[in-house]
Amino acid sequence: MSKIFTSFKIKNLELKNRLIRSATTSYWSDEEGVLRAPILEYYDALAKGGLGFIIKGHSYVLESGKAHTGQSGLTNERHLPKMEELVKIVHSHDVPIIAQINHAGMSGKVDRVTASQYITENWEAREASLDDIQQIIEGFANAADLAIQAGFDGVQIHAAHGYLVSQFLSDRVNKREDKYGGPLKNRVRLLLDIYDVIKKKIGNAPIVAVKMNCDDFAPEGGITIKESVVIANWLDEKGIDLIEISGGGPEQNRDIRKTRAKPVEESLYYEANFAGHAEKIRNTVPSVPLALVDGIRNVSAMNAILDCNLADLISMSKPLINEPDFPNKLREGQKEASCIDCRECVSKERFGKMMLSCAQLKD
Ligand SMILES: Cc1cc2nc3c(=O)[nH]c(=O)nc-3n(C[C@H](O)[C@H](O)[C@H](O)COP(=O)(O)O)c2cc1C
Repeated sequence: MSKIFTSFKIKNLELKNRLIRSATTSYWSDEEGVLRAPILEYYDALAKGGLGFIIKGHSYVLESGKAHTGQSGLTNERHLPKMEELVKIVHSHDVPIIAQINHAGMSGKVDRVTASQYITENWEAREASLDDIQQIIEGFANAADLAIQAGFDGVQIHAAHGYLVSQFLSDRVNKREDKYGGPLKNRVRLLLDIYDVIKKKIGNAPIVAVKMNCDDFAPEGGITIKESVVIANWLDEKGIDLIEISGGGPEQNRDIRKTRAKPVEESLYYEANFAGHAEKIRNTVPSVPLALVDGIRNVSAMNAILDCNLADLISMSKPLINEPDFPNKLREGQKEASCIDCRECVSKERFGKMMLSCAQLKD
C-alpha cells in the first residue's frame, strides 16, 4: 500500500499525509513587506488542495536582508495581522503551516553583506562585522517570535540556496579568520547560534526546521555531501525537528549538478534530483524527520522515496503553482504533476515581479 496518504508526526504535530509544500515566495507583499490579499487566496487553494503540511515562502528577518521586491517580512508588528489571517485560513483546512525565515546576504537588494568581502564578476558584498552578525542572529529570533505570535506552528531557517546562512557555511565565500570562519565547526556557528536563540525565544513546543543544501554544486569549494552529512549530524545533536534536503543556488554549475546529484538511472526515484545525497544523509541521521525536495513529480518516485526510507516527506514547489490541488488529484488517481519544468516561474521576467504564476496557464 502506498505510504503517500499515511499520517506522519513531527514532534506533536500530526500531518495527515506525506505531501508538503516547499517554501515558495510570491513577490506579492507591499513595499513594507505586508502580505496582500491575492496571496491569501492562493494559500486557501493550497490548503484545500490536500497537502499535509505547508512551508510559507521566505520572509526577511531584517529590512537589510530583503531578497527581492514583493517579499514578505517578519520584522515588526505591522506584519502580524495579515500573517495571522493567512495562518487562520490554512488552519481552517486542518493543515499545519510554518514560516520560513531568511536573510539574503550577498543576494540582498539593500545591503550586500556576507561572511567575508566577496568581489567577483557577479558579486560585490562587504564582510559582516561581529555587530552585524549579532543583529542578524537577533533578527532571526525576533522573526521566529513574530511567526509564533501570528499562529504559525513553527519556523524553518533557510540555510540553503546561497543565501546568507548558506554563504557562511561555504568555504568558497567564507574566508573569515574568527570564530565564524575557517573549519566547518566555525562556519556552521552562525546556523547553530540562530537555532539556539530561536529555541530560547520560542521554547520547545513549536517546530524548528532547517532547509539545507546537500551540495552547492559550485565549481570550486562550497558545501558538498562530505560536509552536509556532518552538518546534519550536528543539527541532530541539537534536536532539530525536521531537515529539508535541497541543493544548488546562484553559484551552482549545471554540469556538476547533473553528475554529482543523481542516483543511478535505473532507480525508481531517479527524478528526485538530490536522492543520491539523501541516501547518505538518511544513513547519517536515521531518526531525524527528513523532507526531500527538487524535481519530484511522479507517484512512482514518491512511493519509492518513502518505501526505500530515503525521506519521510515529499516536498514540492513548482508543481503546486499551477496545481495547488495536486495532492487531491493524486489521491484521485492522477499519476504525475502537470508541471513541465519550463522554469518560467523563476525567469527574469517573472521573478520578483509577478504573483506566483505559471507560463503554461492562460493568465
Ligand atoms: C517561484 C519560486 C519561488 C521560490 N521561493 C523559495 C523560497 O521562498 N524559499 C525556498 O527555500 N525556496 C524557494 N524556492 C525553491 C523551492 O522551494 C524548491 O526548493 C525548488 O523549486 C525545487 O523544488 P521543485 O522541483 O518541486 O520546484 C522557490 C521556487 C520557485 C519556483
